Amino acid sequence: MIVLGIETSCDETAAAVVDDGRRVLADVVLSQLDEHRPYGGVVPEIAARAHLDSLDGLVAEAMRRAGVGFADLDAVAATAGPGLIGGLMVGVTMAKAIAAVHDRPFVAVNHLEGHALTARLTHGVAFPYLLLLVSGGHCQLLAVEGVGRHRRLGTTIDDAAGEAFDKVAKMLALGYPGGPALQKAAETGDPARFPLPRPMKGKPGCDFSFSGLKNAVRLAIPADADTQARADIAASFQEAVADSIADRTIRGVALFRDLHPGVPLTLVLAGGVAANTRLRARLGELAAAEGAELIAPPLALCTDNAAMIAWAGLERFRLGARDGLDFAPRPRWPLDPDAPKRKGAGVKA
Ligand code: KG4
Ligand code: ZN
Repeated sequence: MIVLGIETSCDETAAAVVDDGRRVLADVVLSQLDEHRPYGGVVPEIAARAHLDSLDGLVAEAMRRAGVGFADLDAVAATAGPGLIGGLMVGVTMAKAIAAVHDRPFVAVNHLEGHALTARLTHGVAFPYLLLLVSGGHCQLLAVEGVGRHRRLGTTIDDAAGEAFDKVAKMLALGYPGGPALQKAAETGDPARFPLPRPMKGKPGCDFSFSGLKNAVRLAIPADADTQARADIAASFQEAVADSIADRTIRGVALFRDLHPGVPLTLVLAGGVAANTRLRARLGELAAAEGAELIAPPLALCTDNAAMIAWAGLERFRLGARDGLDFAPRPRWPLDPDAPKRKGAGVKA
């Protein structure tokens, strides 16, 4: 079984081909970082236009690298939400056109499910497992129980973790995108110099919050901050985020164990912030202490990509899912519609 996947929900244009032997036959990603850098963030109209400019070339390149023709495809999958509507329309329309012209089935994929099922592509992980999804748009703990069966245990009540990294990096004038730049600055900083709050630490449940921490950083930055002070702020902030996420994850582990008693615990990481080495180290310690296996897919599959979309499409298709060519993109599309609404949590989820 061979599936083409298309991803255009944010600022990466991507196309990939995977098969049911868990092989990634092609995985092409074009980042729009340079287009958005002057604005310090993703500009939706620029993103949509950039997707439109490059998507057909990327699809052709993915098909060429995979060495397959459209007639060889069993299905065509595209991210249909959540995300920026302009980009979603470009990707979904392209996938539907390919499906219509070559008489292939179309499968609409939830971007979050793409992240959620990646560990099954890379590591063949069995259901159920606990997923920590930390990216620029999302921050959630989910019990992944099956294809289309996800239970949201916690989510952010304000900003996503990556958003906080990006905004703090901006305050420190470290450049865009902020996460990697902030991590780099933190390497030479003292994480104990600036006492910062640990949002939500000790609170029941496993929701996240980062906007208070972001404001605390704003107030803590000395007016005459030199390079060392900025590195110390970066390190102190990174430590506070890692602490907060670790606390929330321990509670997520307990909630997961209540739901699935006796199941060996696998903790899976996804999203761009999972690249953070300090966070990874903390979660590694946490998993060891909890007797859990920690699985972090390779970085290129943690950040936005189309292999995860092709794979989620393949998993859904294999179970009989087909979507009509009238399927409308969903800028908001929660993975777990039964989860209680959270203020601000709908940013992209
Ligand atoms: O998953 P992703 O590529 O895109 C979505 O947001 O869906 O995640 C991007 C986010 C950005 O906020 C970026 O600053 C953050 O992940 N990020 C990091 C690191 N690398 C990327 N945050 C902290 N440390 C990093 N090393
Ligand atoms: Zn994503």
